Amino acid sequence: MTSSALQFEALEFASVVPDVRLDIYRGEEWITSFANDVHRGLLADPPMLPPKYFYDARGSELFDAICELPEYYPTRTEEAILAAHGAEIVNAAAARSLVELGSGSSLKTEHLLRPLILDNELEDSLYVPIDFSESAVREAAVRLIGEYPGLRVHGVIGDFEKHLGGLPPAEARLIAFLGGTIGNFAPDEMHFFLRRLALLAEPDDSLLIGIDLVKDTEELESAYNDSAGVTAAFNKNVLASINSNLAGDFDLDAWEHVAFFDRENSWIEMRLRSSIDQIVRISAIDTVVSFAAGDEIRTEISRKFTREAFTAALESSGLELSGWFTDENERFALALADSQLASGR
Ligand code: SAH
Ligand code: AVI
Repeated sequence: MTSSALQFEALEFASVVPDVRLDIYRGEEWITSFANDVHRGLLADPPMLPPKYFYDARGSELFDAICELPEYYPTRTEEAILAAHGAEIVNAAAARSLVELGSGSSLKTEHLLRPLILDNELEDSLYVPIDFSESAVREAAVRLIGEYPGLRVHGVIGDFEKHLGGLPPAEARLIAFLGGTIGNFAPDEMHFFLRRLALLAEPDDSLLIGIDLVKDTEELESAYNDSAGVTAAFNKNVLASINSNLAGDFDLDAWEHVAFFDRENSWIEMRLRSSIDQIVRISAIDTVVSFAAGDEIRTEISRKFTREAFTAALESSGLELSGWFTDENERFALALADSQLASGR
């Protein structure tokens, strides 16, 4: 489907649900970026695939299932922090609207939206989720406008690395980036992204960033090697997505899920390891890659921070920590930050 057809579909949806607007940037441009990234990544040494391509409809469902796993502590820990401190965060930020990057199912978001709307007695408020997953944003939008009278949702279906320039203007934004997704950027990418956020922010905006904290290896590794095999299916889903979008012939049964904590780099690294000698063809990009048994593709890093390391990363990007919220075991944290580069309207 072309971008204009998708845009038309969004307009039709908006006329059925008047408090919801969706801007859709996931047309041909998305497939071109996917094709380029896969081509470059698979021919790199060592081969790698960017983690953002996990999240097609199936990948988003698998991520939601990961969030429910007993081993995967980040979601429930962050939710508990938000439940305890959501109102305090919204107050400290003096927020009047909410933007959320990589919003997914927007479930934890309610701990911010509720105080934002109810404590401020806002009769007209705006929530701007941006995510690749159209189904997740649509479902969240319909659910949230049903729960909060006067709430308008202006969703952006697109890439937060590319489409932040198209965000609608809004007053005193709390720009939330939850879940620890910032940790899926490599260090240089994270620096670049934080700097873009610092430049994008207006003086009355604040940033709220969820980060996973350093802890013992066993707890970390079991969160990414769950006994039900959901994380393994999520990891292999990037190959399924290449098969369906780029006419690839990856045999998912010929790959093993690998996840380990690299303490020196302070990140979990996920890989897919070829269990046999094999040749993979990806017709849409005219690419043939051979893998020997034991060869690996890096599919994700998930960085784990200390307060000191993350504060330093904020500072070097033009951001200043203004609040730090954590759980009693210091498993996860939410960092509230202001831009030192805010330009003014
Ligand atoms: N914030 C939610 C979801 C985290 S999973 C939570 O905390 O539970 C990561 C989310 O970010 C997914 O919904 C995925 O679709 C989205 N995502 C990842 N990279 C993205 C990108 N570059 N642009 C837009 N969305 C992205
Ligand atoms: C979205 N992101 C923060 C998750 C993480 O923990 O890095 C993605 C994930 N990968 C494996 N399990 C969950």
